[in-house]
Amino acid sequence: MTNKSTHPIKPLVAGNWKMNGLRASLAEITRLKAGLGDAAADVLICPPATLVAAMADAAAGSTLMVGGQDCHQLAAGAHTGDISAAMLRDAGASAVIVGHSERRTDHGETDLVVRSKAEAALRADLVAIICVGETADQRKAGRTLELIAGQLENSMPDMAHSATTVIAYEPVWAIGTGLTPTPADIVEVHGLMRDRLAQRFGGDGHAFRLLYGGSVKPANARDLLHLANVNGALVGGASLKADDFLGILAAYHA
Ligand code: 13P
Repeated sequence: MTNKSTHPIKPLVAGNWKMNGLRASLAEITRLKAGLGDAAADVLICPPATLVAAMADAAAGSTLMVGGQDCHQLAAGAHTGDISAAMLRDAGASAVIVGHSERRTDHGETDLVVRSKAEAALRADLVAIICVGETADQRKAGRTLELIAGQLENSMPDMAHSATTVIAYEPVWAIGTGLTPTPADIVEVHGLMRDRLAQRFGGDGHAFRLLYGGSVKPANARDLLHLANVNGALVGGASLKADDFLGILAAYHA
């Protein structure tokens, strides 16, 4: 079960700090930069919005990219507390996560909302990282593939392109639990996503980066990240410490 794609895809390892991190946490970025070397993967950290600008400054002069965790679907206006994609871009972000299951659950975001947010991201020249994933109950009911196909279809804008859009498969039950799907289960879902992308986007469908997320750690990264159609990771808890994150990146060392 190795990655046999005929299209070499540079992996992306992205960290999602969620609602964690104060300015003191930027020390981790100094450590991360020092350990990056010439990583065989693109590397992105998505801190809370309060740290995007400072992290972009801290990452300057390195290949480390900085992203947001969410953006509003509109460009500007009376939306107290919200942040537009252009604001993230202006603060130094080059990407944004949209449709994370925590946003879908905590803020009732539907596929349609996620799709509008992805469009807003693309219009602002941000890479959109669109998340999909089934709950434990949906998996138990045998509905995983149908659910993922639906989320993918409805959350992805037609304007998506492999250079500007990334899909992250994050089973909800694997997030923060230490549980992960079996390699066969991951290959099955990523294979389905690849097929659907190829049906919808033709040849370019084979070039989209498909990330796996959910309890990725240094100890399991090698087993998870070299599976067919797995082109990187979206990492939560283990992205908060530079050493752990570098341990995951090491999965791409020879
Ligand atoms: P954990 O790596 O903490 O399981 O979180 C995954 C995640 O939700 C990343 O977006």
